[in-house]
Amino acid sequence: MVNRYYAKISGTGHYVPEKVLNNFDLEKIVDTNDEWIRTRTGMFERRIAAPDQAASDLAYEASLKALESANLRAKDIDLVIVGTISGDHAFPSTACLVSKKLGIKNVPAFDVSAGCPGWIYASNIALQFVENGTSKNVLVIGVEVLTRIVNYEDRNTCVLFGDGAGATIMSRAEPKDISRVIDSDISADGHYSDLLIQPAGGSKMPATEQTVKDKLHTIHMEGNKVFKLAVKSMYSSCDLLLKRNNLDVKSIDWLLTHQANLRIIDALGKKMKIDKDKVIINIEKYANTSAATIPIALDEAIRSGKIRKGDIVLMSSFGAGLTSGSLLIRY
Ligand code: UT7
Repeated sequence: MVNRYYAKISGTGHYVPEKVLNNFDLEKIVDTNDEWIRTRTGMFERRIAAPDQAASDLAYEASLKALESANLRAKDIDLVIVGTISGDHAFPSTACLVSKKLGIKNVPAFDVSAGCPGWIYASNIALQFVENGTSKNVLVIGVEVLTRIVNYEDRNTCVLFGDGAGATIMSRAEPKDISRVIDSDISADGHYSDLLIQPAGGSKMPATEQTVKDKLHTIHMEGNKVFKLAVKSMYSSCDLLLKRNNLDVKSIDWLLTHQANLRIIDALGKKMKIDKDKVIINIEKYANTSAATIPIALDEAIRSGKIRKGDIVLMSSFGAGLTSGSLLIRY
């Protein structure tokens, strides 16, 4: 099918909860230390949602900022997609709850469960809707309240995650716009689904007293194995997009990858042979907010003036599934 329109990112926003949990706070909770966390992950602080905040609350705040930056009103949005694995409920979707909070009615709204690349997957879907003319302004959100499903007795995982939301608006681009979504790629390999999993709470293992006692509703991860696959999968996704668009690494102004581990980001940058100054990193402030890492960092980089109009930005992520994907834009 021939695409009729181009798409662009017309607005961005993010929101993180006020409460900060730093490495020294974690030392008091579990057998860990600041030095291990910093050297092995690059993380220092992460944000924790207030007891009365759920994913839709964080997403709502981020969306207001994205709408403002796009100079649009909620009534201009004709599709809402939320990438999340820690939505308010198993159902209804968090996208429906965000729509309600924004006063958006009678437009499609749904969640995408793709682990950390949730926002990339959601953007990829939004792109199809804009390019084929079905939608003009899609609200695309990555949000997580992962700390609700973290086991604070497991030092292998509890130091890694934080809460936050990033929202973007993907709009139809006018012919005169220099901003464009250039291309996107998404992929998955379910053979690795056991490496990163919340075992209980679904139809396979419904909640019982025992599953709660055994902490099976929390994140279980084989970190080492995920690490290796992360570098491999993001590299092949980035490489595919560069080749498909006849670009070399030198044409990329910014590489913005999922913020899961500074060593993963460094390893990917090295493999791609990209200048270190072109790699956007904010992992020390928010740790791993899963589907929210990229839209939060994107918004920060735009607002700080790092990413400027016309810059080529390559974004890439990987996560539970295992899933992976990339989005290439001229901002
Ligand atoms: O968002 C997508 C999914 N997540 C990821 O991308 C995570 C990918 N994986 C990673 O980032 C890394 O594998 C981790 C940060 C999770 C772990 O780093 P690692 O270098 O792979 O450490 P390891 O699991 O091989 O553990 C090394 C040692 C172990 O001790 P022994 O057996 O060598 O005595 C662990 O028990 O480090 C120990 N360890 C800790 N020590 C202090 C593990 N976690 C901690 C901790 N504090 N928090």
